[in-house]
Amino acid sequence: MATVIDGKAVAQTIRSEIAEEVRALSQKYGKVPGLAVVIVGSRKDSQSYVGMKRKACAELGIKSFDIDLPEQVSESDLISQVHQLNANPDVHGILVQLPLPKHINEEKVLSEISLDKDVDGFHPLNIGKLAMKDRDPLFLPCTPKACMELLSRSGVSIKGKRAVVVGRSNIVGLPVSLLLLKADATVTIVHSRTPQPESIIREADIVIAAAGQPMMIKGSWIKPGAAVIDVGTNAVDDPTKKSGYRLVGDVDFEEASKVAGWITPVPGGVGPMTVTMLLHNTLEGAKRCFE
Ligand code: GUN
Repeated sequence: MATVIDGKAVAQTIRSEIAEEVRALSQKYGKVPGLAVVIVGSRKDSQSYVGMKRKACAELGIKSFDIDLPEQVSESDLISQVHQLNANPDVHGILVQLPLPKHINEEKVLSEISLDKDVDGFHPLNIGKLAMKDRDPLFLPCTPKACMELLSRSGVSIKGKRAVVVGRSNIVGLPVSLLLLKADATVTIVHSRTPQPESIIREADIVIAAAGQPMMIKGSWIKPGAAVIDVGTNAVDDPTKKSGYRLVGDVDFEEASKVAGWITPVPGGVGPMTVTMLLHNTLEGAKRCFE
């Protein structure tokens, strides 16, 4: 049976470390880190993610600047809001929750975030540096950073290992592939147009599942002893639950946990770590600014 990686517990440990550092900064400089969380519109999933981010800030002593804009906001008004936050010395990190409404050009908005406040790591220049050898972005994207942190804190070695990433999104699949490559893994990305992904996944010492397909990866697809990090957060109907649904990952946990060496559960794996990495990036941004 696999070792189940307890993301909630790891996240709690790191959050205590961050809270301690925030207290120390506050004593030394009389200032605390500040994070601006910008949300456009009222998508339920985005509202829920943003709520978690703001709540976590409050718990750790990080000041959150809450910017809630209507669905119809113009691209230029959103960009002027970003410019104001760039100029605000109390703000050390700026996060614009994605996806944005269709009439707004996401790339244009993300490019306007000051590089040294880009705590999501989505600025094209930060991503570009992530893609280049011997260049370091100022911030790493949070979910990919969470995956790497869970692997390293679980003692999974990466150098020289075969890693397969399932999914090629800008937010997870692509950047986590680049991070694994930087850590000297041999990396393959499989995606919706890859024929027979199972034959490639079976060769992986490390699997990062970020396809957004509930329980797509079966136990028989996993190489015995592999480390499996499941980024999927899929709501599936479940009439036995009060809410009417439950969350499942991209991996069939019950099957895969009998074969893998390590596995993350859903919920309680990558999820709690992602927000923690955002807070960690905000702390790093503030430290660069104060010190
Ligand atoms: N939407 C889904 N995941 C993310 C994320 O990590 N950051 C932002 N800004 N939006 C998201």
